[in-house]
Amino acid sequence: MTDTKWTFDNIPDLQGKTIIVTGGNSGLGYESVKAFAQNGAKVILACRNLEKGEKAKTEILQTRPKGEIMVMRVDLMDLDSVREFALQFKSKYSKLDVLLNNAGIMATPYFKTKDGFEAQLGTNHLGHFALTGLLLDVLNDTSGSRVVNVSSMAHKSGKMDFNDLMFEKGRKFKTMKAYGQSKLANLLFTYELQRYFESKNIDSIAVAAHPGGSNTRLASHLEDSGFMKMISRVVRGVMQDAAKGALPQIRASVDSNVKGGEYYGPGGIGEIAGYPVLVKSTPASHNAEDAKKLWEVSEKLTGVTY
Ligand SMILES: NC(=O)c1ccc[n+]([C@@H]2O[C@H](COP(=O)([O-])OP(=O)(O)OC[C@H]3O[C@@H](n4cnc5c(N)ncnc54)[C@H](OP(=O)(O)O)[C@@H]3O)[C@@H](O)[C@H]2O)c1
Repeated sequence: MTDTKWTFDNIPDLQGKTIIVTGGNSGLGYESVKAFAQNGAKVILACRNLEKGEKAKTEILQTRPKGEIMVMRVDLMDLDSVREFALQFKSKYSKLDVLLNNAGIMATPYFKTKDGFEAQLGTNHLGHFALTGLLLDVLNDTSGSRVVNVSSMAHKSGKMDFNDLMFEKGRKFKTMKAYGQSKLANLLFTYELQRYFESKNIDSIAVAAHPGGSNTRLASHLEDSGFMKMISRVVRGVMQDAAKGALPQIRASVDSNVKGGEYYGPGGIGEIAGYPVLVKSTPASHNAEDAKKLWEVSEKLTGVTY
């Protein structure tokens, strides 16, 4: 793998483009909103807390971006909120060039979303699955549109257990197991969505990205104990900053050379840091049977059909 330099300078002019970024108030989402707005896009900063969203917008506006930022509320742990967001969006906009499904949680203790899903699968996959399905008509109406899902190197340890997806029928809950499953689900969904677009002749592509190890708030739940806090301080020291970590998902969202079904990540050693390049995901993430199963179960659980 080469550490070729696709940087912020490679971002094309985005004037006329409409982009949604979930989790746009923090970390990689914040950096993505900033980069898109600086290059002229109309960006919808989607977040679960409007106050945090407005604060992020105010900060970004200080950099005098060429584009616009609109803050809209969506809580991916609540399907009613996802439906409301999609309705609101469609009442204001008739096109959507990029849906960047970035928001996520990691290593949380066991709890369930409002709709009764294990929180990490519910937020990282099912919420975004529902959101994408509800926005499909506008994506369909926008020539050359894209859906970008943010996965993780943690997908490599992920396993789909379709008999006990929510860890409630005897599978022992381990928080990183649940995170790995949700991040594997992000990739299975990406590849199935690409097959869906192709089979329906929809002029849209599905792409995935991961940020390696990036210094954000994501690991805050891992830092609950003093020992982990200490370890974390050391690990954070070698991580790349959020702006560089956001480059793979930014590239996946706007580089005109990107093709459907591709996966971008940092090009450095172990994909931990570096400029974004095409990377490979595990054979499990390319299991078409699991992808189909996940799609069917996600439609059933969310009530959103494609
Ligand atoms: N940082 C890394 O090294 C790393 C590595 C691999 C993958 N990733 C992936 O990168 C993505 C972004 O994470 P990050 O590192 O930027 O972490 P972050 O700084 O913690 O940002 C996560 C964002 O997701 C939002 N979010 C969480 N639950 C939500 C919900 N129910 N509804 C709507 N928004 C919600 C958060 O909102 P609040 O501010 O309200 O909490 C926040 O805006 C995630 O998908 C993560 O899995 C990150």
